Amino acid sequence: QAPGSLRELAPFPVGAAVSVSLLQNNAAYRQVMTTEYSSITAENAMKFGALHPGATTYNWTDADYLVSFARQHNLRVHGHTLLWYNSLPGWVTNFQGDSAAWENLMRTHIQTVVTHFKGQVQGWDVVNEAIDDAGNLRSANLWRQHLGDRYIDRAFQYAHAADPAALLFYNDYGHEYSDARRNGILKLVNDLKARGIPIDGIGLQLHTSSNISDARIASAISAAAATGLRVHVAELDISMNPGRSAGATFTPALAAAQKVKYKALVQTYKALPPAQRYGLTTWNVADADTWKRADCACPEWPLPFDDSYARKPAYDGIVEGL
Ligand code: XIL
Repeated sequence: QAPGSLRELAPFPVGAAVSVSLLQNNAAYRQVMTTEYSSITAENAMKFGALHPGATTYNWTDADYLVSFARQHNLRVHGHTLLWYNSLPGWVTNFQGDSAAWENLMRTHIQTVVTHFKGQVQGWDVVNEAIDDAGNLRSANLWRQHLGDRYIDRAFQYAHAADPAALLFYNDYGHEYSDARRNGILKLVNDLKARGIPIDGIGLQLHTSSNISDARIASAISAAAATGLRVHVAELDISMNPGRSAGATFTPALAAAQKVKYKALVQTYKALPPAQRYGLTTWNVADADTWKRADCACPEWPLPFDDSYARKPAYDGIVEGL
């Protein structure tokens, strides 16, 4: 652990979502993970299709590697994600069965995965991205189509039964840029809580960008905290090319603006009551491995480390905010 590392300075866990193959094959990447961070999330290795590629086939290899790496380096593991409408294997999207058969499929997946990692994964994103842009339950979602709106309740109940000590999260995006999304998410979460469904936390993805004000980000974080649940900034990255310009370059002025945004966000998060601070996780480690470059098919530099895995001004912004 380097002196002045994020894990040493932060009064809450600081994590990153990682690619298992980079963890295995890139020394600079591994070095940043082990020296700077105190929490780790699998970018893809714990998703449904990765873990459960066939109806009776589970593939634990990559996820187990990540968990043992975490144990070896004293990192907390956050599990992402048990149920999502996306990243489903063909055998699920093509599955033919009545609602009892779908229920069995969902229950078996959750029980098997949560039991496999019991005691090793501190918290789970039980349900990911169930809300649509109007703030309603997403209709293009196989789980809801086959199981009805209350599949969310039962997903949390099955996860809780499999590992009663695991912290259970609802994770979604758009809290900071859409009132409709934010209100829909908070309504869902407050309703789960009010009905005694075992939910412990709310994940704000916060794939955000330079054109979203610090005030909006702060109000998204405070609104989530007002639920009384733990708050996870779960997938943080700050895009500095929101116009997706193919010719954009990362100028010193952009680096300085990004530093200010990271600092403001961290200050807001740090001001939450300590018991509500589950942690702050960036989505990927460095600009070199950001998912954003593929997602936007444009130049992007959204993370605190650069293309050589060196600290950026954004990193200094995080440190100043702590
Ligand atoms: C993304 C990964 O980063 C990509 O590698 C993958 O191709 C698609 O999924 N919201 C989430 C994450 O909850 O799981 C997504 O991760 C990014 C958006």
